[in-house]
Amino acid sequence: MKGVILGGGLGTRLAPLTRVTNKHLLPVYNRPMIYYPIECLVKAGVTDILVVTGGNSAGDFLKLLRNGADFGLKHINYTYQEGEGGIAAALALARHFADNHAIVVALGDNLLERTIAGPVGRFGTQQKGAKILLKKVPDPERFGVAELDGDRVARIVEKPRRPRSDLAVIGIYMYDAAVFDIIAGLRPSARGELEITDVNNVYIERGEMTYEIVEGWWTDAGTFESLHRAANLVAQGGANNP
Ligand code: DAU
Repeated sequence: MKGVILGGGLGTRLAPLTRVTNKHLLPVYNRPMIYYPIECLVKAGVTDILVVTGGNSAGDFLKLLRNGADFGLKHINYTYQEGEGGIAAALALARHFADNHAIVVALGDNLLERTIAGPVGRFGTQQKGAKILLKKVPDPERFGVAELDGDRVARIVEKPRRPRSDLAVIGIYMYDAAVFDIIAGLRPSARGELEITDVNNVYIERGEMTYEIVEGWWTDAGTFESLHRAANLVAQGGANNP
């Protein structure tokens, strides 16, 4: 399986930290933020990786990551997102790289305590459709929220004012090659972005979505509070542990 890490966007919620640099280059404890999702994929056995970047300091990703030696890689692929068209718009740039293979997508500002090797391996045998990972959180209104119906996901609502569950959809998504045609058929949301939640809802409507609940802590790092929390969690016990 191939891996795509999304490190575009303008990171406006972290201004002025992001006025001159890219959010994903900011430190989370002892490493730049982008290191965590890369390590997450590599430890799950995904070593053919595309980094989508954009906005400020896009060239600094190359200086920092080079060919991926810090992760035991011989090569990393890069591409550039103009503007901030949304997570699905950033993912659309990976079509050529994916080349009809299934992909694992990681948001560049997401961190996990435990490896995702298990779910990635199980998606490998799923063959068709998509898989999302969920985590119970105290503040679901900040995320995509999954409503379950027995053992299936009934729907996902992006940042609902009144969440109908406390299960956040975390920023790790697994898709078959159909994802790029689904994105091509999307319309921008009210906030003017192509939403990954809309992509996931298409898979749900097709009856092709599976989910798993992740073990250990999960956090994003896109706000001052979550960036601070992420650094503390990493300092306490590291990330991407077995
Ligand atoms: O963290 C998980 C959440 O991420 C999910 O629960 C939500 O369903 C999903 O929409 C997303 O929500 P956010 O509003 O937190 O996403 P944000 O705009 O912060 O973007 C997350 C990452 O995606 C960001 O670190 C880089 C990448 N991105 C984002 C945008 C808007 C891009 O590469 N390009 C973009 O245009």
